[in-house]
Order: sequence, then C-alpha cells, then structure tokens
Amino acid sequence: MTMTDTMTDPQPAAGGPLAPAALDAAVAEALAALAAAADLADLAAVRTAQVDGRSAPLMLARQKLGTVAPENRADTGKRVNEALGAVRDAHTARLAELTAERDARVLVEERVDVTMPATRRRPGARHPLALLSDRLVDTFVAMGYEVAEGPEVEHDWFNFEALNFEPDHPARSEHDTLFVEPEGSGRLLRTHTSPVQIRALLSRPLPVYVVAPGRTYRNDTVDATHSPVFGQLECLAVDEGITMADLRGTLDVFAAALFGSGLNTRLRPHYFPFTEPSAELDVQCFNCRGEAAHQPCRVCSDEGWIEAGGCGMVDPNVLRAAGVDPTRYSGFAFGMGLERAAMMRHGVREIRDFVEGDVRFSLPFGIEG
Ligand code: FA5
Ligand code: MG
Repeated sequence: MTMTDTMTDPQPAAGGPLAPAALDAAVAEALAALAAAADLADLAAVRTAQVDGRSAPLMLARQKLGTVAPENRADTGKRVNEALGAVRDAHTARLAELTAERDARVLVEERVDVTMPATRRRPGARHPLALLSDRLVDTFVAMGYEVAEGPEVEHDWFNFEALNFEPDHPARSEHDTLFVEPEGSGRLLRTHTSPVQIRALLSRPLPVYVVAPGRTYRNDTVDATHSPVFGQLECLAVDEGITMADLRGTLDVFAAALFGSGLNTRLRPHYFPFTEPSAELDVQCFNCRGEAAHQPCRVCSDEGWIEAGGCGMVDPNVLRAAGVDPTRYSGFAFGMGLERAAMMRHGVREIRDFVEGDVRFSLPFGIEG
C-alpha cells in the first residue's frame, strides 16, 4: 500500500469485518453452512449462527457500521445489506428445500398400507351352549314365561325331598350324586334343574310360568353323551286348569325352536317321582326326518326319534310340598339336557367338544346363533 493510497482511502476504511473481502468471506461461510444443513433442526442452528443471531458474523459487521466514516457509510451499508440479503435468500431457499424433503419423507414413513395383513384380534364367539340356552329361553319368554334361577350347591330337600323322591331312591346315592362336605350337611351339587320348580313355587305368586336354565352335576363317567357337568333347561307352568294338552302344545313350540318346524314330537311313557303321569319327549330325528326305517341314520341310531328330555304333569305331592293347593291348581314341567340338544341340533358327536375350550369349535356357531 502506497502513501497515496493511504491518504485517499477514507478512514477508517471499510476494514475489519466490513472490508469487502471479509463480507464476501462471511457470505461464503454462511452459504456453505446453509447448504450443509441436513435437516430443519440443523438449519435452525445455522440460521442463528450465520443469518440473524446476535453473533452471526454479518450481524456483528452491521453493528460496526456506526464506526465507518460518514462519507463511506452508505456504500458500506449497501454492501452489508446485499450480503445479508443474499444470505437470507439462501436461507429461505434452503428452508423450502428441507421442508419439502421432510414432507416427502413423512408421506413415505407414515404411509398406511391398507393391503397389509391386519393384526387386529378376532372378536371370538359366544359358547354354543350359551347361544342355544338363550335361544330356548327366548322362546319361553315370548310365551309369557319368566326366567327363574337356583343355586348350584343345593339342599337335599329342594333337589330330592320336595320333589317326591323316596328316601332310598337310587339317584340319592353317591353313585349318582356329588355331595358337599361336611357329610350329613344335606348339601349337594344339584343333579337337575327341577329344584328350581320348588323355589319358584315358594317365592312367586300363582300362577307361575318359569323357565330355568342352569348347570347341573352328576357322578357320571364321561363318555360320548355323558359329562359330570352339564346344562339343563327346566320349564314349569302352574295355573288353574292346566292339562296335558297344554304340555303338548308347549313342547311343540319348544321342538320347533330347537330343530325347526316340521318335526313331529311324541311322548313316551316314563317315570319321574315329581310328575304323574310322566313321559320322555322324543323329537323326530332332524337328520333322517323319521325315515330311518328306510335308510340307516347315524344320528338317531336308526330309531327315527331322539330323546330330548323328561316331562309330565306336576305330582300333587310336589304342589303340596311347595304350599300349593292341588285341588285348585295343576301344572306341567319339562326338563331337557342342553348338551344333548346342541349335539342333536348341530350333529356334534362328542360331548367333550363343548368343554375343551377350543375356539375353533365355538367359532363356526357364530356370534348370534
Ligand atoms: C331329569 O333330570 C328330570 N329333572 C327332567 C324332568 C324335568 C322330568 C321336569 C320331568 C319334569 P333325566 O335324568 O332324564 O331327567 O335328565 C334329563 C336330561 O338331562 C337327559 O335327557 C339328558 O339330555 C341330560 N343328561 C342327563 N345326564 C347327563 C349327563 N351325565 N351328561 C349330559 N347330559 C345329561
Ligand atoms: Mg332320561
């Protein structure tokens, strides 16, 4: 630098951070940093460091403008503003670029592929016995019956005594009945739903029309059609003037609900201590429709009929035990095995299938039944 140069250069010249070279260098550094910002978080940091933060070199340079000789201030100020403008423009452009990149990435990363196999849990199904029980209860409720219940741990008096069983009836032995300790307590696991007849008559005003589904227990060995735990559905009607014809008509409605209409029913004489006369209800086989005589049928063992349950006119002794006047009231009762009915209805050949809890067995019966 010559003396003349020194003399002609205004003082202080736009030196230091305001020198054109320094400004160019600051711009170049800022542009490089902006270009190097890999994502929006990076860019925010670069903005503070290089664009408009307090210690960004160009901001520091602008603060120094006050120290420039007045005659040079306009020129230097213009250069600083151009430098800042260039850096701000570059920041705006990089911001747009990185925002577009981020949006594109989010679209890919958060895309939902509706063709992917779903991991949703299957809703499962109600148990086929619960479905059948509900369905049968519904048909009785539609005829005006009320739902009645009783305990599964029952007293001998309700399960046997009030139902007119003789003291030495074989059903009362441990061979058939599961008793509850302590011995002699008179408590047992109810062997049928018939004790609910007594409970309903004792607790409800006459006339009584009740349906009682529930679980029952017997000391039976498991085979294809026997289980120590099984369900029954009991029906009891006690009113003035009830006859066997009412029983028949009710059974026809019941059989239609169980097997569809068009299947005949028959009453076959039988003995129960708590009904007189008593009968077993047979329903024409739903598989061969009673044609077994002409074609072999595995479902009814060529009988043409399937036993659905027991029934009869309520024995006067039972009415008396429950405090009902048998000279004024009469009634019928009916009880059937739920598993057996479900087996007949669905062609299930093994009673254990109902209790093994394999959802593949339950699912095909559907949610509504
Ligand atoms: C009774 O239990 C009488 N309480 C039915 C009754 C009610 C008669 C009202 C008259 C008036 P029974 O012991 O036959 O009857 O049993 C009725 C039904 O329960 C049978 O037809 C059968 O379907 C079912 N059942 C009996 N024992 C078992 C068992 N171990 N496993 C599965 N089902 C059974
Ligand atoms: Mg029987």
